[in-house]
Amino acid sequence: MARPRAGAGLLVALLAFVVAAAAAAGGGGRKMASHGEGTDLKASPGAPAPAGGSAAQFRGQARLPRFATPRRYELRLRPDLVACTFTGSVAIAVVVSAPTRFLVLNAADLSVNRASIRFQSLAPTEVVFFKDDDVLVFGFSKQLPLGEGVLQMDYNGTLNDQMRGFYRSKYQYKGKERNMAVTQFESVDARRCFPCWDEPAFKAKFKLTVEVPSDLVALSNMPVANSTFAGPIKTVSFRESPLMSTYLLAVVVGLFDYVEGMTSKGTRVRVYTQIGKSNQGKFALDVAVKSLDLYKDYFDTAYPLPKLDMIAIPDFSAGAMENYGLVTYREVALLFDDKSSSESSKQNIAITVAHELAHQWFGNLVTMEWWTHLWLNEGFATWMSHLAVDSFFPQWNIWTQFLDGTTTALKLDALSESHPIEVEIHHASEVDQIFDAISYEKGASVIRMLQSYLGAERFQKALASYMKKFAYSNAKTEDLWAVLEKETGEPVKDLMTTWTKQKGYPVINAKIKGNDMEIEQAQFLSDGSSGPGTWIVPITSGCGYDTQKKFLLKLKRDKMVIPSQCSDRKKGGNFWTKLNINGTGFYRVKYDDELAAALLNALEAKKLSLMDRIGVVDDSHALSMARQQTMASLLRLLYAYRGETDYSVLSHVNSVTVSVARISVDATPSLAGDIKQLLIKILLPTAEKLGWDPKKGESHLDAMLRPLLLTALVQLGHGKTINEGIRRFNIFLRDRNTPLLPPDTRKTAYLSVMQNVSSSNRSGYDALRKVYRESAEGEERLNVLGILPSCRDKGIVLESLNFIFTDEVRNQDAYILLRGVQIEAREIAWNWLKENWERISKIFSTSSLLGDFVKTVVPLFTSNEKAAEISKFFATRTKPGFERTLKQSLENIRIGARWIEGIRSEPKLAQTVRELLGKP
Ligand code: BES
Ligand code: ZN
Repeated sequence: MARPRAGAGLLVALLAFVVAAAAAAGGGGRKMASHGEGTDLKASPGAPAPAGGSAAQFRGQARLPRFATPRRYELRLRPDLVACTFTGSVAIAVVVSAPTRFLVLNAADLSVNRASIRFQSLAPTEVVFFKDDDVLVFGFSKQLPLGEGVLQMDYNGTLNDQMRGFYRSKYQYKGKERNMAVTQFESVDARRCFPCWDEPAFKAKFKLTVEVPSDLVALSNMPVANSTFAGPIKTVSFRESPLMSTYLLAVVVGLFDYVEGMTSKGTRVRVYTQIGKSNQGKFALDVAVKSLDLYKDYFDTAYPLPKLDMIAIPDFSAGAMENYGLVTYREVALLFDDKSSSESSKQNIAITVAHELAHQWFGNLVTMEWWTHLWLNEGFATWMSHLAVDSFFPQWNIWTQFLDGTTTALKLDALSESHPIEVEIHHASEVDQIFDAISYEKGASVIRMLQSYLGAERFQKALASYMKKFAYSNAKTEDLWAVLEKETGEPVKDLMTTWTKQKGYPVINAKIKGNDMEIEQAQFLSDGSSGPGTWIVPITSGCGYDTQKKFLLKLKRDKMVIPSQCSDRKKGGNFWTKLNINGTGFYRVKYDDELAAALLNALEAKKLSLMDRIGVVDDSHALSMARQQTMASLLRLLYAYRGETDYSVLSHVNSVTVSVARISVDATPSLAGDIKQLLIKILLPTAEKLGWDPKKGESHLDAMLRPLLLTALVQLGHGKTINEGIRRFNIFLRDRNTPLLPPDTRKTAYLSVMQNVSSSNRSGYDALRKVYRESAEGEERLNVLGILPSCRDKGIVLESLNFIFTDEVRNQDAYILLRGVQIEAREIAWNWLKENWERISKIFSTSSLLGDFVKTVVPLFTSNEKAAEISKFFATRTKPGFERTLKQSLENIRIGARWIEGIRSEPKLAQTVRELLGKP
């Protein structure tokens, strides 16, 4: 399970930056930058005011000035793994291309030795640090010579515990705790490791040297050029890298084993793990080797580096990071253990590896010009990873599962607090929060939409020429459209700009008039209102899968002719039409009553594809939430999925049932029990068919469906399933290898156990804690962690939440525990969050983690009063990193409140529930 990307960002909780003035500098001694002020250390206070204004002009700017740009970095790092500090020295070949007396670059949390700073032979007369901007300005007494010169300096820093910049991670070796040194630079944290031009467009070559204890392994982007030993310390220098962005640089130092493979073109690939775990790297290795081969062919461009290493890091804030040639992962996103890993974890590993390796081309070789174009990285890697995994594991139906992402994005993008795919970035502190479902899943979805409009072959050809045109360089969104237009002759830019430069998406209202279909677009918002946006919409329609009608909707409303084979209204005839075939379009459809009834018939007659079965239920859920459709009609539709057996379809049906079950608790408490019974009735037949025990030779998808359905039943309070889960858990407690509880269903059993736990009956909870303690790290433990707070008992919920603060839970995993909080315990969790906020915001100051706390607890509520209370609480506590997440969560509460009002005013709801429950 990859970490959910936060949509929350980097905290501005910066430690003080110290510009250290060494003895000889003649500067003003050590000064701490005060908040919002530059620290001005004038070497010679009486120096004449030089041309080009003052250093203050560089404060508060979105981007660094471009009059001086780096070409090549020579970087030397000496980490001290015991003291958790490091020293560094950097020599940067800089090209000065316009008259200036300044050099302006980024740094954060580093102490630069003031006396060591030189540009060629010049020492700066002025060193100013703008702490809020991470900007370091060196002012010289006279204009710098145009052309290339070398800027150098020495500095030191801390190997921090914040999982960003140059940090330490802990691991066990021979029963003892050890530290490793790791980097995580995306988005804007390379500056925490060395002073640099820390923006993606400043590509440069890197020549790195590290001095580390002789017994440790040191890895970086490039292969080792040579190592020299001097007693306990070795100096490892790496080969010079090709042109690349700072956020992709990486270093890892620790004790590791590895497994190795080779691509068909002879590129060496390794997976590094903790000592003794290298077997668990084999699956990822296999996917990696295949991915490199596939992408090379797809882009018609060789893998750009001499080697690829992938490594599992015990403390890691994202799910994985695509550092050029040295990809870092959370352990659960890389390591697969036959005995303890589940099928869904296998799939996650495959997707994650394929995603990061897609970045080696899309992102690393061709890099976004600025963070506004982040989606070019993340949307494409997400889309490409599905293309690759589909080719390696066709039986996984991964394109059908892709719709999980599309529907997640549709949900987020139906908020007025959403943002366009191309989002303006005014400050580095805003970057981290755009790693969200808009950049990833909406980005990937509009790529799929475009590909299906242009055709796979033309699309691939154009991407290959884009890759060649911008290799070792940067591109903007428009650059991609220009190449696609040139290759295909289609109006790609006009079409796509409507999708990437404005937020939201349309709902297509479809009405049938004779043989004509009238279609009209309006921006869809979950709060029931309609936004001002209009799009160029690639509409597809059909009543079967042999032929499809394509239509480019450019106006607000238009008309399409329905093919005769789809409009035979006579008895026994074929009368139905589905728009947005296979969900390739990023929009929703609302049908008039006649079309909706016909579509329901087609669904019941099993005429719809898997993807269309997903689209229909997801649109219907969204329309119901926005009160454009009743809950009763949503339930009728859900009922048509009784007996459905496909994993992907049921996973969407399940998300809808979870949402319906939740809202009914608040909307119609007296009916909530019956609604749960109805939802059980829908899911039970297939769950019973699957049972608890894996069948020999069953498919990957069935293996994933089993825990999905059983867990849903436990959550809905299905007694028989709960009891069976408890029974199997008890056997598992005595025998951890029992075939009765293989990895796939363990979580379901744990959840069953929690259903009966209370402060006075806590043996199940204690047993789970024991399982947690005794499990090796990895998926096994996380399964328990995600379940611990899943009960209503105040004492137990609090005890499990406080578990976050202990050494037993890594900070990176806290969000998993939080996700286990049930709606019944929301008040307990909210009060806990308020009471502990100060502590939490200190420990989890890396904002994406902090955003997780907001995102998991806040949306559990559904009343306007609560939204007001939460909003008030955060009024003085919000940080740029999770501001948007908070607003989105609050908007979701208000949408829930409005939905509740609608449900309460439905006259026929109870009757519908009873009628469906009574059906044989
Ligand atoms: N570039 C990201 C990692 C990242 C995320 C860095 C957020 C900085 C902030 C990486 O390519 C990525 O997208 N990782 C995903 C996993 C992937 C399978 C979707 C992640 O970390 O969730
Ligand atoms: Zn990515």
